[in-house]
Amino acid sequence: MRAAVRAPRRLRGEVSLPGDKSISHRAVILNAVAEGEARVSGLSTGADVASTAGCLRALGVEIEDGRVAGRGLEGLREPSGPLDCGNSGTTMRLLAGLLASRPFPVTLVGDQSLSRRPMERVAAPLRLMGGHVTTQPLRVGGDGELHGIEYESPVASAQVKSALLLAGLAAVGTTCVLEPAQTRDHTERMLDAMGAPVARDRLAVTLTGPVSSLRPLDVAVPGDVSAAVFWLVAAGFHREGRVLLRGVGVNPTRTAFLDVLSDCGIDVTRLEPRMQGAEPVADLLVAAGSDWRALEVGGARAAELIDELPVLAVAATQLPGTSLITGAAELRLKESDRIAAMAAGLSAMGADLTELPDGWEIRGPRHLEGAGVSSQGDHRVAMALAVAGLLADGQTEIGGAECVEISYPGFWDDLEALCS
Ligand code: S3P
Repeated sequence: MRAAVRAPRRLRGEVSLPGDKSISHRAVILNAVAEGEARVSGLSTGADVASTAGCLRALGVEIEDGRVAGRGLEGLREPSGPLDCGNSGTTMRLLAGLLASRPFPVTLVGDQSLSRRPMERVAAPLRLMGGHVTTQPLRVGGDGELHGIEYESPVASAQVKSALLLAGLAAVGTTCVLEPAQTRDHTERMLDAMGAPVARDRLAVTLTGPVSSLRPLDVAVPGDVSAAVFWLVAAGFHREGRVLLRGVGVNPTRTAFLDVLSDCGIDVTRLEPRMQGAEPVADLLVAAGSDWRALEVGGARAAELIDELPVLAVAATQLPGTSLITGAAELRLKESDRIAAMAAGLSAMGADLTELPDGWEIRGPRHLEGAGVSSQGDHRVAMALAVAGLLADGQTEIGGAECVEISYPGFWDDLEALCS
């Protein structure tokens, strides 16, 4: 599918965002092994979370209309074939951790994009814990006496950290993950709320196992802040921009990009901050920004806003001076090589940028011109280029537009509604 986008006269309205993808995965995975039934509302309707639910069903878990019937930590059933994780790295890596201790072997497969992504980053530490793990395809379990380890992760990855904590539930002794930079902490928050002995000390997270049971946890999933960012940037740069987003998750491990936006001239107001279960939420209001300054993101900071960087690259094209985004080599290992994909799309639209090994140098401000561009099958690239299209002269056609289904199925409808 190709989507055509033009700059609207106004960009105004209220959007109801999809449920947070990261929290949704964890709400179904953790409740699947809890001791009883839980209700999960506001679950992401995206294809990634559907992949997780499909895998859990194949393991014998009943998931229906937001009801997850937990089977207990040892109650998962041997699946009749490989588990299909689709396009979802979170599904594959978190389930690899959860299943490493099972007495039966499980093979985890995915689409072309997922099959190319690195799995050794979870396989290696799971082996150190005593798990039998091979990659290509990823295969875990079969003979699983795990023991806790202290693991200094070479990558800042919430998926690696979460996989090890999930494996740690069944491991004897303490599993400690030391992260090179703080990553999203939804797994720790949820495990804690379910009664697991999890603790954080700066960049170290520990869990002592084996854990005998997890309490089921009703979860009202907040709106996805990584989906909010597209409208925040689009409205922030539009002269007639004003968008309200209700009930957005504002967990501090996810909101570093709000500080970056504020530093470069877009103020996002947080209204009615409140807790929704274990997670903080707020309504976010953004209007056209002013007093523009170039942006700079690097080092540990890049890990905190890794999913927001493609659209921050779009923002940088509109800012005066040279913006620099570095420390983000991980972007090359996402659903697509996001550094190359955004460089190709934005260059085709007339941006002045240099692709770096770990980011971009972007010189602005530039009037973007509508062009034919490609999502490269990557949902965040599709949505970031759509935002570029909203700020460009003429028409932008985005090829492979259907991939927004992965995290934000209503994206094109919401875009149309905000532009009308
Ligand atoms: C996620 C972690 C991040 C992020 C992804 C979701 C998660 O990946 O990019 O969209 O839910 O844990 P990494 O752990 O590979 O950095």
